[in-house]
Amino acid sequence: AKPIRVALLGCGTVGTQIVRLLTEQADDLAARVGAPVELAGIAVRRANKPRPGVPAELLTTDAAGLVTRDDVDVVVEVIGGIEPTRDWLLTALKAGKSVVTANKALLAEHAGDLFAAADATGADLYFEAAVAGAIPLLRPLRESMAGDRITRVMGIVNGTTNFILSAMDETGAGYAEALDEASRLGYAEADPTADVEGYDAASKAAILASIAFHTRVTAGQVHREGITGVTAADVAAARALGRTIKLLAICERVEAGGDRPGEAVAVRVHPAMIPRSHPLAGVNGAFNAVFVEADAAGQLMFYGQGAGGAPTASAVLGDLVAVARNRVVGGRGPRESAYADLPVRPIAQA
Ligand code: HSE
Repeated sequence: AKPIRVALLGCGTVGTQIVRLLTEQADDLAARVGAPVELAGIAVRRANKPRPGVPAELLTTDAAGLVTRDDVDVVVEVIGGIEPTRDWLLTALKAGKSVVTANKALLAEHAGDLFAAADATGADLYFEAAVAGAIPLLRPLRESMAGDRITRVMGIVNGTTNFILSAMDETGAGYAEALDEASRLGYAEADPTADVEGYDAASKAAILASIAFHTRVTAGQVHREGITGVTAADVAAARALGRTIKLLAICERVEAGGDRPGEAVAVRVHPAMIPRSHPLAGVNGAFNAVFVEADAAGQLMFYGQGAGGAPTASAVLGDLVAVARNRVVGGRGPRESAYADLPVRPIAQA
């Protein structure tokens, strides 16, 4: 069959792993897709940075030119940022090219525009890597559980803050000391604000709630509190009560008022004291885990690596295989899921 041609936007920690897996697993991927999967080009911000294993002739700094090329079927975005990335992805979708993205901040603000563009041309929009890295989570919620009614999604979706809180719990360290340790070991970004203030988790919570409840929630609608105010004394007090403190993203169906039970959603991110016997209490270090409750399925737990080059690339490649296969067979994946249009409660429901 005709090869599926891929434009890769971004070639940092995740992008280089995507290139490696595409190269090393080329035969297996071709068998799973039903056609070879080829890199058409790689758009980067800086062309002269060393990137071992990445074919230099594929690099370009012209992302806008790359996504409009006729020989490109699928755009894989791991470059991050809102603008101009949003524009590149909209252009690609409007041209009928499928998009795989790991960009949680973009999806948490602009998923509606992106889905509308995808639905207009029948292109696919997949984003498994945007929440909880390697953990298969969004497609299970969106597809495997499409016949059930999810009532609650509660998870540890930020590795940096979980590393810090785990270190505080294990060693009795204060917040500043644990943050330093996370930075030293490379778990915290040079600017950790988005992680420690809960913005990263709020974006992921918005995406999770949108998928789980088939509605549309944006990051601004998520009640958010980070971990910068958590002290060693708080952690010790939790321990004395047989509890531990975790930064949780909680997405729930709540009463809308009147006679429509469970017809609104509340989404919040904040540090919470949870019993040490809860499955999420044992999730330590940079790991992520998400606990799901549904009417028919009951309780489920998803666990694994939520960040890092290879784990994130695993989720991206899974999406790439799915959208490439859809192209080969002439099908497409799920459409925009905002059919329930549930009201979002602006104030956290305790
Ligand atoms: N900064 C994020 C985290 C990376 O710490 O989990 C993965 O989205």
